[in-house]
Order: sequence, then C-alpha cells, then structure tokens
Amino acid sequence: MGSGIGFGKTILFGEHFVVQGSFAIGASLSKGMEITITPDSELRLNISTGQIVLDASRKILDSFGLEGNYFIQVETDIPSGAGMGWSAAYSVALSRAAAEEKGAELDWREIAKHAYEGEKVFHGNPSGIDNTLAARSGAILFRRGDEPIPIELKEPVHIVIAYTGKMGYTKDLVAGVAKKKEENPAAFCQLLADVDSLVEQAKFALETGDLDKLGALMDQNQEYLRQVGVSSTELEEFIKIFKEEGALGAKLTGSGGGGCAIGLFRSKKDTEPLLERIGNKNLIFEAQIG
Ligand code: MEV
Repeated sequence: MGSGIGFGKTILFGEHFVVQGSFAIGASLSKGMEITITPDSELRLNISTGQIVLDASRKILDSFGLEGNYFIQVETDIPSGAGMGWSAAYSVALSRAAAEEKGAELDWREIAKHAYEGEKVFHGNPSGIDNTLAARSGAILFRRGDEPIPIELKEPVHIVIAYTGKMGYTKDLVAGVAKKKEENPAAFCQLLADVDSLVEQAKFALETGDLDKLGALMDQNQEYLRQVGVSSTELEEFIKIFKEEGALGAKLTGSGGGGCAIGLFRSKKDTEPLLERIGNKNLIFEAQIG
C-alpha cells in the first residue's frame, strides 16, 4: 500500500511555446489530488476514466518495477481537461504512492521524472512544466530540460481561474502548434524570441509587484496564443468578460481549446463584479500566487 499527493497548477505565461523551447512561468495551486494504491487482482480506479489513464498508470508503476496490479483510489478537487493539470497531478500523486509502496524515499525531482513517463502517455510531447509544478510548490521560471528557477514574488498576486465548461485536448493542441512551426519556421522562431522576452519581463514584474505591467503582458501573451490557434470562442468570451469586469489582464491557461481562462486582479475585493456576473454559472477558483 502507498499514498501520495500532486498539486494542480496554473500557467501564467508561455504555455505551448515552452514545448518548443521557450521559457514559461507557472505556479502550483493549493488544490490537487491524493492517491492511495492497494494491491488488487486487476488495475482499476475508483473513478470512471478512459483507457489512457490505465495506460499511463501502468507506465508509472512499471517505472518503479511494480509489475502487479493495484486498486487506485483518487480523491481530487480539480476538474480534468480544464488546463489545471489533472493528468500531471495524477501522475505525480501515483508516483509518490508507488514510491511509498516500494519503500523508496524520493525527492520532488525524482518523483517528477517518474510522473513524466505518465505525462508522455497522456500528452505525447510534454515540456515537463506540468509534472514539475505538480511535484513542488511555488512559482517557477521553467525551460524544458533545465532546472526550474523559483520566483520570489514581491507580494502575492490574486488570480481568478474560470472553467469554460469545454474540455481541451492537450495532445491535439500541442500537435497543432508543432504544425504551425513546420509551416513557417522563421515566423515561429521570431515568436519564440518574443515569448522569451515577454516571460523575462513578466518575471521582473512579479518580482517587483508591477501588476499593471503583468496584466498587459498577459494580454500580449494571449495575442501570441491566438496566433498559434489554441484559443477558442468560449475562451474569448470569458476573456472579454474578465476585462469588462476589471481584470488587469486575462488569457487562457494550459493547453486552451476550451479549458480555463485566468484573470489578474489587484485584490480579492476587485473580483466581486466578475463573481457576481459569472460566479454561480461557472466553475470558478480564486488563488493567491506567491
Ligand atoms: C499544458 O498544461 C501546457 C502545455 O504547454 C503543454 C506542455 O507544456 O507540455 C500546452
């Protein structure tokens, strides 16, 4: 028997471009997942899921040399397919549970490595940001293959995450962006350079508490995401509402195509008009980052 936790996450800047090598900024959430595994005659879960979850689970268990079957009990407060890192939180929590079952004491880096095996099954070509955020708490500057750099915020920032109600399919969306790169490598290369510059400015704005600048950078980031085709009608509608109700900046978070939009607010009090307008119709999370 073993158990473990994984955090949900939100990507503040640079999703999708991070798959292709640019920098990104993300933060783990206090929401997440807890998993307990007990030996069983078949590999099964207490929740209904697709075959892909079983395949990812098998990969993770195999990576620990655990060849037997398990009953995987999942408790979570994050929706799946919403861009809040369900698959990464699952992969990390299962890796921690498997490590405990094995009697292995692993640090977050080693847990994130095992979880990456699951993420590859879920997403094909993950950058590694999601499983890193699911394995450690706090905000980070991330680049594929590099050690993540923790970001010390001047003061916590207040964000609202709203689920559009439409699932986003990360694997297809990531593949769509790779196709855009193939079609026009020179333009895409320029876009990656622009994203790197934007992320660098965003890190500085977080460190200095420059919320107006941070909001403007979120809007600009959303424009880059539109250009690579990962926004959607639902997301655009939410982003418009966020801005109308006082968000300093708003964008999609995670893989897009639906999923969640995030908005930056000066304080919790400032979110009241937005919550009044959409709060009782949609799944809404408020989070303090930092
Ligand atoms: C998904 O949460 C983030 C993406 O950038 C994919 C990845 O980094 O693996 C879209």
